[in-house]
Amino acid sequence: MTEAWALDQDGQLAVGPVRVRVPAKINLHLGVGPLRPDGYHELHTVYHAVSLYDEITARAGDALTLTMQGEGVGEIELDDRNLVIRAARALAAAAKVEPKARLHLRKQIPIAAGLAGGSADAAATLVACDSLWDTGFSRADLADIAATLGSDVPFLLYGGTALGTGRGETVNPVLARATRWHWVIAFSAGGLSTPDVYRELDRLRASGKGGAPLGSTDGLLAALRQRDPAALGAVLGNDLQAAAVSLMPQLETTLQSGRDAGAHAALVSGSGPTCVFLADDEAHAGEIADAVREHGDCREVQLAHGPVPGARVG
Ligand code: C5P
Repeated sequence: MTEAWALDQDGQLAVGPVRVRVPAKINLHLGVGPLRPDGYHELHTVYHAVSLYDEITARAGDALTLTMQGEGVGEIELDDRNLVIRAARALAAAAKVEPKARLHLRKQIPIAAGLAGGSADAAATLVACDSLWDTGFSRADLADIAATLGSDVPFLLYGGTALGTGRGETVNPVLARATRWHWVIAFSAGGLSTPDVYRELDRLRASGKGGAPLGSTDGLLAALRQRDPAALGAVLGNDLQAAAVSLMPQLETTLQSGRDAGAHAALVSGSGPTCVFLADDEAHAGEIADAVREHGDCREVQLAHGPVPGARVG
């Protein structure tokens, strides 16, 4: 769909549908620090946007409405509890415009999966409504609004590979070689609630379990400057993995199936339960995907590559 310009009934220029595509994210490094007084954990994370996309289409309308198709239909509310609606309202309030738009969400990113699908949809909504309402905000302005909506939302505006600090909302791009990394992504049959997984990590740590916390991101940032998947695979890590596996022990079967098939790394994405595997190239990714489909405990396996850009019109 291209952006269509036409005259409306009053002879005014009316903007046609705005379509925004937004990727999912995985975390190449997710270092979780202590629980803060505000209920969040201090993070050192490296975000990586991968080629699995949701899409928001925004049209002019008399009210703010949301319809959807794809992953999560019937499972997520389409009212003010939805992050898409909250994003549109937050942008309208900041821009001092009426929150009027007909929004449609085409969802391929599974919900409650550790892929930041809801955050991605919020980022896409900010970009789509910004264009529809012609607010004139910069990406940095949108990132400030994004941070009020969720810790991962600012990253999804930028995409690529980026360092996240604070509760994850402070994002700085990582300087890396223009390398395309190949991933296998395994979706689980059920979801995991992010707060539950953080709570489980706190519980494990309080009882002396949960594993040693990840160190600095230096090794990972150095590996991103090489083109060697084995070197990158050796330094990927996720402090939430032990907690996700504790809540969903069958994830270990899926992770092991990818390791056995020769993946350079097998790890839980974010708070899970999605598992991701690093491959040499697309052919290798295809072989790992076949093995994970056969031997893993998951509902669907897809190939993806990264890094890819964040929420974009077009
Ligand atoms: O920021 P967001 O709304 O996506 O976070 C969802 C939940 O995940 C928070 O309410 C909190 O329980 C947990 N969280 C956390 N520390 C972070 C980010 C999220 O404990 N840095």
